[in-house]
Amino acid sequence: MIPFNVPPYIGQEDGYVLEAIHNHKICGDGAFTKRCHAALESMTGSPKALLTTSGTSALELAAILSEVGAGDEVIMPSFTFSSTANAFVLRGATIVFVDVEPETMNMDVRCMREAITERTKVIVPVHYAGVCCDMDAIEEIARERNLFVVEDAAQAVDSTWKGRAAGTMSDVGCYSFHETKNFSMGEGGAALINNAGLIERAEVLREKGTDRSRFFRGQVDKYTWVDLGSSILPSELNAAYLLPQLENHQMVTQNRMARWLQYDEQFAELKAAGIIETPYIPDDCTHNAHMYYIKCTDIAERTALTDFLRQRGVLAVFHYIPLHSALAGSRFSRFHGEDRYTTRESERLLRLPLYYGLTQEDCQTVIDTVRAFYQ
Ligand SMILES: Cc1ncc(COP(=O)(O)O)c(C=O)c1O
Repeated sequence: MIPFNVPPYIGQEDGYVLEAIHNHKICGDGAFTKRCHAALESMTGSPKALLTTSGTSALELAAILSEVGAGDEVIMPSFTFSSTANAFVLRGATIVFVDVEPETMNMDVRCMREAITERTKVIVPVHYAGVCCDMDAIEEIARERNLFVVEDAAQAVDSTWKGRAAGTMSDVGCYSFHETKNFSMGEGGAALINNAGLIERAEVLREKGTDRSRFFRGQVDKYTWVDLGSSILPSELNAAYLLPQLENHQMVTQNRMARWLQYDEQFAELKAAGIIETPYIPDDCTHNAHMYYIKCTDIAERTALTDFLRQRGVLAVFHYIPLHSALAGSRFSRFHGEDRYTTRESERLLRLPLYYGLTQEDCQTVIDTVRAFYQ
């Protein structure tokens, strides 16, 4: 079987993990966490990176920092993971979903603009498949309407837009280091606090609402409960596992990119013949080869192709069921405007195996099997 995903492991994790055990007894916010923060800050240019227990908890931290509450509206695409919406639902806000552009599956900025009301407080661009949204337009609207911006960059670590790192073009950017992502700590994530005025509060929220970070910096002589908060910092074990991958991020991305390009080059013919569609990368983006997907004609063809691949030892998977049509969607959200593309395109999209270490031969097997299906 060629799996859909193999969690990244570059071979230097063992040494760091053992060091975390022996030197730090795996306690949180030790040397490895600090080194991950420094690595992320140097990779992205963000003034403050904070490791979190997941991409989900990074989004929850961002939602608290946005000060969104009951009666407020948060605009995002419906084609995303539940955590993007849940983080704001947990604050009592209403989610307003808008359509995606079919080319990138990112939020359509024109639809977003039309969905803004006087209750809109936050906009959440999701950089789908590591391909960034049009952040010029989003920043302009946010400035005009004084809106808080949270980038869901869970899939976009090591991607850029006009040379700026994904996750740094907003008040708070959220990364995921889940096992399915390009860089993994098993379960984990990071919040990039780009708005300098939010850094101290972010540290407090992450540390159970206490000023423990200030205490460790010697700025206060004892730490106490100063704000609301939760336990959002991971163990040193997770940080130690992640660190070598961040230190070698270019190697990891290059490795994935070679396979991404192999797919893209070899599917050019099927694409030119109008049989499948393949990802579109806008000129302003450099992406991180997080995902390679193709689009079939419709859901029936996708189901047949998925079955054909599985019978021949290739695991390909689809996502997302658009959030507005999911069970919780009707309770917590509304869809603004017409669903021209979200549902239709999500039913055609199939993700092919892509992970660090996928061999050229296995990638070729996937390509040949897809071609065989269409023959
Ligand atoms: C777009 C998006 N947002 C948020 C998340 C949540 O990240 P995590 O699984 O680390 O909580 C994911 C990951 O699955 C994701 O793909």
